[in-house]
Amino acid sequence: MPLQVCLGDINVCKIVEKTNKAFPNISEWWCVDWKENMNSAMDESGMMKSVLITGANGGLGKECARQLALQNGIEKIYLGCRSEDKAIGAKKDLEASTGKNIFDIFLIDVSDLSSVHRAIESLKNPIDALVMNAGGWGGENPLALTDDGVTNVFAVNVLGHALLAEELLKRGMLTKVGLYVSSEAARGIPGMDERPELTTSSIDEFVSIADGTFFTERSDSTKPYAPVKYTGAMWLSSLARQYPSVRLITMSPGGTAGTEVTSSSSLIKTYIFKAVMSVMCLMGKMHRLETGAKRFVDGLLDESYQSGVFYASVEGITGPVGDQTEIFSDLGDETYQDNARAAIRQFLS
Ligand SMILES: NC(=O)c1ccc[n+]([C@@H]2O[C@H](COP(=O)([O-])OP(=O)(O)OC[C@H]3O[C@@H](n4cnc5c(N)ncnc54)[C@H](OP(=O)(O)O)[C@@H]3O)[C@@H](O)[C@H]2O)c1
Repeated sequence: MPLQVCLGDINVCKIVEKTNKAFPNISEWWCVDWKENMNSAMDESGMMKSVLITGANGGLGKECARQLALQNGIEKIYLGCRSEDKAIGAKKDLEASTGKNIFDIFLIDVSDLSSVHRAIESLKNPIDALVMNAGGWGGENPLALTDDGVTNVFAVNVLGHALLAEELLKRGMLTKVGLYVSSEAARGIPGMDERPELTTSSIDEFVSIADGTFFTERSDSTKPYAPVKYTGAMWLSSLARQYPSVRLITMSPGGTAGTEVTSSSSLIKTYIFKAVMSVMCLMGKMHRLETGAKRFVDGLLDESYQSGVFYASVEGITGPVGDQTEIFSDLGDETYQDNARAAIRQFLS
């Protein structure tokens, strides 16, 4: 077995070398399994030291920050939050739960382009990784327009992240990995979310998803979420082709209980959705917060997750992840991907 399989740590390599001599037929899985349990942020392209996570004061973003802090080599985690008070609280919690003093508050409201511009200017050093996690159903009025001309649900899930990532990449300020958080809803979840049905997948049609005119049926506030997360995944795949030296992937956390993702809708809906999620978790149809956030950590650290690919549950909303073009082939169409990006750029200019 080649030594490099077992990371670059010289002590690890010595142990493996001795083991290989003693047991020449040692199987590769043993070593890979060991690697998975090493808690190291080392990969073939070098150490990942700094990570910025949006929406890091709660839910999956905060749990992702906690898990990353426990990886060897991570020296700085920027907690991207829109509320300073919540950010201070999250920083204290994370310092207590990890014993690490590596968290910096990074104020950013991803639903407001002027806030994103300010945040970018405030970043003094390049970051190795970016987790575009902030998002959800878009508050009490998901289809109301922001000052940037897009719906609330589009602003929080896509537009702000698009500005952040495009600008950091252009400036050479994002050096290794970018992870956009999408959802299985983007390829359809039987019995829960209909697959986004686009007619032409033209630039104009993606613009209509951004400004809300795509949605004729406006009574169900959860409906816009799937086409919006679909557009985000398409944008990222297009971006990945322009920046091949940075690994850019889309990842869904899967159905994850214990977050506030459903809280932005009405109180009754919030209660019902939380109850349903807890029951589904007990039935093994969803998973816990730790499991959902671990998908992000895996996506960042494991280079076998390929740039430009949208990973989510192979079946349902939990279990192993795989390339979602197997389920929804439109996701792999480069023209559609480029159209999604061109539509988004119309709102960035
Ligand atoms: N949970 C699931 O089952 C599930 C499934 C698929 C995909 N996802 C996706 O996973 C991501 C995280 O969701 P979650 O379940 O962890 O939800 P959550 O508990 O509601 O966390 C969302 C985080 O995003 C922040 N946020 C919201 N709007 C923001 C803005 N404009 N600017 C900056 N931060 C903002 C929230 O901060 P505040 O406290 O200030 O609101 C919070 O920290 C979302 O993109 C969601 O769509 C979740």
